[in-house]
Amino acid sequence: TRTHEEEDLPHATKKTMADHLRKYDSLFTLTPQRMRMVVEAFKDTLELGLQKPQQPMIPTYVFGWPTGTEIGDFLAVDLGGTNLRVCLVNLQGEGKFEITQAKYRLTEEQKQDDGQKLFDFCAECLKTFVDTNLADDNGELSLRPGETLPLGFTFSYPCSQERIDHGVLIRWTKGFGAPNTEGRDVAEMFRQSLAKYKLPIALTALINDTTGTLIASHYVNPRTKIAVIFGTGCNAAYMEKVGDIEKIKSLGIDEDAEMAINCEWGAFDSFEHEHLPRTKYDIIVDETSNKPGEQAFEKLISGRYLGEILRLVICELIDEGVLFLGQETYKLEIPYVFETAFLSLMESDPTDELLMIIGIFTHFFAVETTLAERQFFRALAKLIGRRAARLSACGIAAIVSKMGYLDEGCSVGADGSLYNKYPGFADRVHEGLQDIFGDKGKNIVTYHAEDGSGVGSAIIAAMTKLRKDVGLY
Ligand code: GLC
Repeated sequence: TRTHEEEDLPHATKKTMADHLRKYDSLFTLTPQRMRMVVEAFKDTLELGLQKPQQPMIPTYVFGWPTGTEIGDFLAVDLGGTNLRVCLVNLQGEGKFEITQAKYRLTEEQKQDDGQKLFDFCAECLKTFVDTNLADDNGELSLRPGETLPLGFTFSYPCSQERIDHGVLIRWTKGFGAPNTEGRDVAEMFRQSLAKYKLPIALTALINDTTGTLIASHYVNPRTKIAVIFGTGCNAAYMEKVGDIEKIKSLGIDEDAEMAINCEWGAFDSFEHEHLPRTKYDIIVDETSNKPGEQAFEKLISGRYLGEILRLVICELIDEGVLFLGQETYKLEIPYVFETAFLSLMESDPTDELLMIIGIFTHFFAVETTLAERQFFRALAKLIGRRAARLSACGIAAIVSKMGYLDEGCSVGADGSLYNKYPGFADRVHEGLQDIFGDKGKNIVTYHAEDGSGVGSAIIAAMTKLRKDVGLY
């Protein structure tokens, strides 16, 4: 491919790009002072959420930490934002386990198609998995008469629960929109699908990915007190004292017991938009989404949206005649074509000429770039990625400060494509925590979590079984 060289272009290019960058720098940069304001508002929302019914701060009916005595074989189905995963987990106790799994990609159509069909698809994949991994040569499972296999269902959308084996979907997030699902018990819907395939499987626990991650991470690292997902969506869970969860007081559960809370923090500052520093690009992302007003925090942070934010800035500069003059740019004008993975790649390009960035723009969008433009794109990715990490630090800081974890310190189990693949994301979160808390911020350390929706869901299914065996809630 031919690329423009700097000398082919007006001398102003480099300077023009630097001027523009200054503007975006001030739009996307969060000062420590601003961060502390966000933390305060966040903390108030968390506290208030424990009193008000529904979300945020959803009681999960996962009681306390695992003890390490959880053992056995468990199936797990994980309906995340992008993939469907089916796992067989063999828990061996003392933090040890083995896992067999299969992944299936969800299509955009499936996310918008009828809800029952989506669960039918989950059941179908589960059937294929069971036939391949558990059945003998005659296609039979070695079960005693009447015996069923316990299944943990990780369903990572806000559900209101009154017990662990059911949950009413409050609303779809992350671009899902399957009709006939919101307001319904998704565990029951999934059971109907399981029955269609005549699977000897009992759905024993419906869990959120953050809760699974919290439990799985604590299983291998008992210093873990918080879990965060940075993936297609963004959310956190932590362990709360039952006595402090005002909204479930009437249930009469032992006040000294502990229960995991699914914060659903992606919804922080939704609708009112009083606290978060939203730019006009964030507002466009919000207003053109299938759920305007909702998931305000998530839309600034998660993998589903970061690429789109950058794309909107590029489109603005195309319209202003700054970028790609004289070139066909229609490929860049389609919403969501600029994936967050491209931001990761742009930030990690090791070459002086930024060859990977040339590749992205020529290969996917058929436009040629100058070095100055590529440097600009990389800097822009950095601003957007850094803002996401620093806002995430605000959320973590709010839980830390609410729970008083700062002095003693704690580990934060983190998972998701952004955390695992975006270069420097974790460092930026840590930097953010220090900007908020000063030196003490170093006491809060994130680390790559244990597989929450597989291992975590199996442990929770096992914990639930142990509780049921002794007649507890
Ligand atoms: C969205 C969902 C939430 C989930 C998160 C991460 O925020 O609403 O339930 O935990 O994505 O997957």
